[in-house]
Amino acid sequence: MRILITGSTGTIGRQIVAQLVEQGHAVRALTRNPEASVPGAEMVVGDLSRPDTLIPALDGVEAVHLINFDGGGLQGLDTGPALVELVRAAGVRRVTVLRGGDETSIEKAVQDSDLAWTFVQPVEFMSNTFAWVAAVREGTIREPFLSRRSAMVHEADIAAVAVVALTQDGHGGKTYTVTGPEALTVPEKVAILSQAVGRDIALVELTEAQAREKWAAEGLPAHVIDFLVWVYGNTPEIGYTVVSTVEDLTGRPARSFADWCAEHAPAFQ
Ligand SMILES: NC(=O)c1ccc[n+]([C@@H]2O[C@H](COP(=O)([O-])OP(=O)(O)OC[C@H]3O[C@@H](n4cnc5c(N)ncnc54)[C@H](OP(=O)(O)O)[C@@H]3O)[C@@H](O)[C@H]2O)c1
Repeated sequence: MRILITGSTGTIGRQIVAQLVEQGHAVRALTRNPEASVPGAEMVVGDLSRPDTLIPALDGVEAVHLINFDGGGLQGLDTGPALVELVRAAGVRRVTVLRGGDETSIEKAVQDSDLAWTFVQPVEFMSNTFAWVAAVREGTIREPFLSRRSAMVHEADIAAVAVVALTQDGHGGKTYTVTGPEALTVPEKVAILSQAVGRDIALVELTEAQAREKWAAEGLPAHVIDFLVWVYGNTPEIGYTVVSTVEDLTGRPARSFADWCAEHAPAFQ
């Protein structure tokens, strides 16, 4: 199969490409950056906010993985109808969409089409933990809402679910929430990370106001700070409820946070 992956240079897209290549599929990887490369993939330049730029990328493709945002600010794409028209015209049958944030024109257009679509809806990525690299090196993590629980998921497991939906029949019209195997509080996460890096890490609870100040100083845009306060302060049930999607679809248990920390411990040294 030839499969087009959008968001291919990103956290989840790179994992999807790697797993498809490992399974022997021909992978075309979309990027806006002519200099970018993703191992094992045929690179193709295009921009989802300008649908016509995808016409060459779609040639000869049987399945497509879509992101629903435009750029680093994660602004929702408004080009869904035009993109879906091109995807259908190219003869594509299966489409996966990586969901996050509010529903966009992508989800609406895909749902209104006759494509075999699958929505992949992850909870918090384990890779968000990279935001703690500097704090771990300094020895103190400062976070608000320490008692919130998160069913955080390994990015390779999010990709594995998308890969199944892209390559196998029977997943059309489904929305798959993807979580890790346990819901952890912040102190539990820090204890696991501390064990993996082999030293104590102090944890200091911030008030909401202190957290807003810290995130603003780190350069996060206001809408992202508002989102973080909302999601950490009032985590919706989906964010802390463990589901068995990874095992159901892939036949093996979801990777744990301890697995993630063991893999990435060198980055925190
Ligand atoms: N982080 C979390 O905890 C979490 C949890 C649930 C859901 N999510 C969702 O996951 C998504 C983010 O995924 P990610 O972390 O894998 O992304 P990422 O690492 O930020 O990568 C962004 C990717 O999107 C591509 N891209 C952006 N705008 C584009 C455009 N206009 N046309 C073509 N490509 C474009 C970039 O390609 P180039 O720069 O190479 O062009 C890059 O490959 C968001 O929808 C978010 O809401 C995140």
